[in-house]
Amino acid sequence: MAQPKRAGSAASLRAIERILAARGLQVVPEAIDDSREANPGDRQWHRRARSEYALKRWSAATPPRYLDAEATLPGVTAWADRALTDNAAAGALLLTGQTGTGKTHQAYGALRRIAAGGPERFEVITVNSADMYGRLRPSQVMGAAERELRRLSEVQYLLLDDLGTAKASEWVEEVTYRLVNYRYVHCLPTVITSNLPARDETGPDLTDFVGDRVASRLAEMVTSLVPMIGADRRRGGRVA
Ligand SMILES: Nc1ncnc2c1ncn2[C@@H]1O[C@H](COP(=O)(O)OP(=O)(O)OP(=O)(O)O)[C@@H](O)[C@H]1O
Ligand SMILES: [Mg+2]
Repeated sequence: MAQPKRAGSAASLRAIERILAARGLQVVPEAIDDSREANPGDRQWHRRARSEYALKRWSAATPPRYLDAEATLPGVTAWADRALTDNAAAGALLLTGQTGTGKTHQAYGALRRIAAGGPERFEVITVNSADMYGRLRPSQVMGAAERELRRLSEVQYLLLDDLGTAKASEWVEEVTYRLVNYRYVHCLPTVITSNLPARDETGPDLTDFVGDRVASRLAEMVTSLVPMIGADRRRGGRVA
């Protein structure tokens, strides 16, 4: 039986690099030494192969809008670099700010930076929180919601986009607790974006939405809190 054709690994990485370079984007945080001839015994060769594999996974998990995403803010790049060197110590990256300030862009960019660094392992799920709650509602299919919750809880990297936009309820709080608690106790790196501020004495904040028990865990998990300011980029604004 004919074997499925596999793309040449170095060639397809170069193709990805060319596409990104044409858009003025850098593929890896630090350059891989190309001067030596690559061979399977070469450390650089292995890193390049891992990077290619991880970038493919990243692209598959990234919607077209954010395929250009690049982490540029120091709090975001530092978090990604930490995740690359010590996965269990990375904790959570929390991006907050008003609509259109670039939170989701930075979040995808952070994951891309990790992938480009050639991690030993790279599994990622990206999900909008409103879609997630939709998928986790008890369905006709026995156990489907539980399986989905397990998948999101256990994955190595989870991007939970737009936390706090769903209508708060006891059920939402319970599901969020189960997800965050699993990732908290297993020290799994998590990227969260939210329109709500982490804390606000005068108005609604993330604690109001997720409840005290989740907020307490997040407070310990979050190793990098990046409040984004500026006008709505969708309306031609600039991040300050
Ligand atoms: N640093 C950047 N460089 C170029 N484009 C950017 C950058 N940051 C954001 N954008 C673009 O600006 C738009 C808004 O960004 P994004 O979707 O990340 O905002 P957001 O803060 O997540 O908004 P919301 O709160 O509504 O989800 C998108 O089209 C995005 O691709
Ligand atoms: Mg967003």
